[in-house]
Amino acid sequence: MPSTPRYRQIAEHYLQAIRADALQPGDRLPSLRELMQLHGVSLSTALQVCRTLESEGWAEARERSGYFVTRPRRLKIVPMDEPATDRAPDPAQFVGIHEKVSAFVTQRRAHAVHLNLSTARGAPALYPAEAMRNAVTRALRQHPELLTQATPSRERTPFREAVAQRAVRVGMALSPEEVLPTHGCIEALNLALRAVAQPGDTVAVESPTFYGLLQVLETLGMRALEIPTSPQTGLSIEALELAIAAYRDIKAVVVVPHLQNPLGSVMPDAHKARLAALCEQHGMALIEDDTYSELLDAPAPARALKSFDRSGNIIHCASLHKVLAPGLRLGWINAGRWQARVEMLKYAQSRSNEALAQWAAGGFMASGGYDRHLKQLRASLRTQRERTAEAITQHFPPGTRLNLPPGGLQLWVELPRQLSSVAVFDAALREHILVAPGTLFSNTTRCDHYVRINCGLPWTPALEAGLRRLGEIVCAQYAAGAVRAAA
Ligand SMILES: Cc1ncc(COP(=O)(O)O)c(C=O)c1O
Repeated sequence: MPSTPRYRQIAEHYLQAIRADALQPGDRLPSLRELMQLHGVSLSTALQVCRTLESEGWAEARERSGYFVTRPRRLKIVPMDEPATDRAPDPAQFVGIHEKVSAFVTQRRAHAVHLNLSTARGAPALYPAEAMRNAVTRALRQHPELLTQATPSRERTPFREAVAQRAVRVGMALSPEEVLPTHGCIEALNLALRAVAQPGDTVAVESPTFYGLLQVLETLGMRALEIPTSPQTGLSIEALELAIAAYRDIKAVVVVPHLQNPLGSVMPDAHKARLAALCEQHGMALIEDDTYSELLDAPAPARALKSFDRSGNIIHCASLHKVLAPGLRLGWINAGRWQARVEMLKYAQSRSNEALAQWAAGGFMASGGYDRHLKQLRASLRTQRERTAEAITQHFPPGTRLNLPPGGLQLWVELPRQLSSVAVFDAALREHILVAPGTLFSNTTRCDHYVRINCGLPWTPALEAGLRRLGEIVCAQYAAGAVRAAA
């Protein structure tokens, strides 16, 4: 990234003071002369500092008195439209996502990345490194054989016990033996899909959806039927009903009911009940991906979709990757009536998960420290999302829209329609900023003018400067597009 200009550095200094309440609304900022002396800058730089603070809503000029701190202007976030749900979706497609992901990875590897806004992952600082280190040491002290003795796949580990116990809070009744540990949620999804469908079968997915799921479907030779999904309430049940009427061969439905990736939508309980009943009625397996529900800001934990299961038709998949330990590939699955088949597939695919991770994570999950960590993580992410949304609203061109989700690690940003997320991705990468282009989240061209921005990084002046630079890049493309349109 180019170095930050001097006026911006000085403006940042005052912004930090305002945010820390050292300078409060109504306080006078240093005069132009004072700024020149204090920071050793010219009159025009001092003036630029004040104008920057003024244009960003942090200061106001009063005639003959100088600049004063104002009450921060709450920037208006323009929400996205709901998707059209009155037509049957395009027919299911064989996926073809590998090509797009390969292009993305090849491009990314050709550049040094200084600011990675493309992942859906928290920074290491957000996770309890010391507590987890202690949990590993304690597990090994109590069970010195953990690394040298094979783990029987049916063994009742502290991890299985902790998952079963926490499941009660969200309306599920599972015994520890019914919780099958997996290598992340991605293995759980893989197993679930293999248990309920065959190559060539059609699987309904949310649109947009995270590209990891599209990759799994492609690997398994299955077709994805993209169902319109609301940025507020998740998968449209009406659209799914239309799809069922139009295409009678849907084998399974995969949904992320809480904090869907990339939308951040949360499915209301009434929709969960309707979806569970609809899938049951039409003989479609329902796969719940519960990767993010612990990151939801809500007075009480959200009810799992699986809690609406009446016949073993719902498969529940989740993991600790986003919520406790990105370095552990520890997930789990309860596969309802397909449990025995999934256990067999897991055994054939990767045998059982390592015992040490299960003893350490399970030990920590059973302590009060886990809930304290989750509370802190949610609070940090809330600040980071709000700050990121504020920066986008401030620096991106008119016509940009986004929804501020009630939790999670990312923002899904709709750019003005004429912009291409791939062009934004290319231009940003040339300046060492990585974003995830919307093209990765659908087989259609519907998401080509969206980008997904990670909010998992702690808020710093460097991050703020990076988002501002990204905004300038998008604005430059917007201006060029406007010129093209006028020519
Ligand atoms: C919705 C969703 N499900 C599953 C995964 C993969 O989870 P894991 O890393 O636990 O395999 C991701 C990762 O981004 C995700 O966003």
